[in-house]
Amino acid sequence: MKNRTLIYLVVLLLGGTLISCKEKEGEYHSISDKIEAESKPYHGNLTSDELLVDTELIKITEGENTFLIPERKSQIKSFACIECHSKPLSEMAGTDIQKAHWDIKLSHANGDAMNCATCHNGSNMNNLNSLTGKDIDFNLSYKICSQCHSNQFEDWKGGAHGKKVAGWAPPRASNTCVNCHNPHSPSFEKRWPVQFNTKTAIERNEGLDH
Ligand code: HEC
Ligand code: HEC
Ligand code: HEC
Ligand code: HEC
Repeated sequence: MKNRTLIYLVVLLLGGTLISCKEKEGEYHSISDKIEAESKPYHGNLTSDELLVDTELIKITEGENTFLIPERKSQIKSFACIECHSKPLSEMAGTDIQKAHWDIKLSHANGDAMNCATCHNGSNMNNLNSLTGKDIDFNLSYKICSQCHSNQFEDWKGGAHGKKVAGWAPPRASNTCVNCHNPHSPSFEKRWPVQFNTKTAIERNEGLDH
């Protein structure tokens, strides 16, 4: 008899606490239980896969780093080059009254250090060319850049220079050099911020007036 009362009491008490918990934080005991439970998916199984579905990516390995970069060839308007470049450049120059690539103006290093043939000079125009005359696939154009910009290349490999394609969660997919830098004119123009404060604007205008 005594035991039974005790059991009733315990059941009653438990029921009471359960109900009161439900009222306060839904099915959770406390706010920290709720945070713990609902943040679970973020531990371990967070991925950028969903954000990357629209980007065609290729896997590269450079030293100790293996990661993905965006595919380029499908983005290059005048690819495939061999549709027109069926013979060596020396035989092509001057063939057209209007320059075929009139919209490309080289503004990279200075004229003695660089011209078109620094990067496009092969027997097969569908590939880029290294300074020692080796073919480099257009999808791997960072190999062209790394010949001269080894510091940025080292930083990029490790993830310090550049930017991810989507999120920080794995798999690692990083923008490649030409996603940000136009190889023909790689530096960014200096510009004012889109918004700047009025005081600075006034000072600038005054500066111009005097
Ligand atoms: C629609 C035809 C066409 C396509 C496609 C084309 N080219 Fe050309 N390209 C020409 C012609 C014609 C010339 C020679 C006349 C001239 O100098 O513009 C030329 C010249 C060049 C030159 C030498 C320019 C100079 O000033 O010495 C380079 C470098 C070049 N092309 C690279 C490429 C690359 C790289 C591709 C592919 C990504 C490509 N071309 C695709 C027609 C084409
Ligand atoms: C520093 C190396 C470099 C030099 C110098 C260079 N190119 Fe390029 N060029 C590239 C790379 C890399 C690409 C591919 C860019 C990409 O993936 O979008 C490219 C792309 C092109 C394309 C295809 C562009 C398009 O959108 O259709 C043409 C045409 C071309 N280059 C012509 C030239 C000509 C002409 C010159 C000289 C005036 C020149 N390039 C100088 C590296 C270079
Ligand atoms: C043959 C050597 C060579 C190659 C290949 C080359 N560059 Fe350059 N680049 C230079 C030189 C030289 C300068 C001008 C001097 C400097 O500022 O470092 C320069 C300047 C730059 C600048 C501007 C630096 C500034 O201070 O404004 C950027 C950005 C750049 N290159 C990116 C690239 C990218 C991206 C590629 C590959 C598509 C590439 N370079 C390929 C030699 C090269
Ligand atoms: C996500 C975009 C992005 C990618 C990818 C990227 N860069 Fe840059 N890079 C920048 C920006 C932004 C700057 C700073 C420009 C400035 O200060 O005017 C810069 C600066 C540079 C400079 C000038 C020197 C300096 O540090 O200020 C060089 C050279 C350069 N990048 C080369 C490369 C090469 C080579 C690669 C590929 C291995 C690459 N970048 C990839 C955005 C990028």
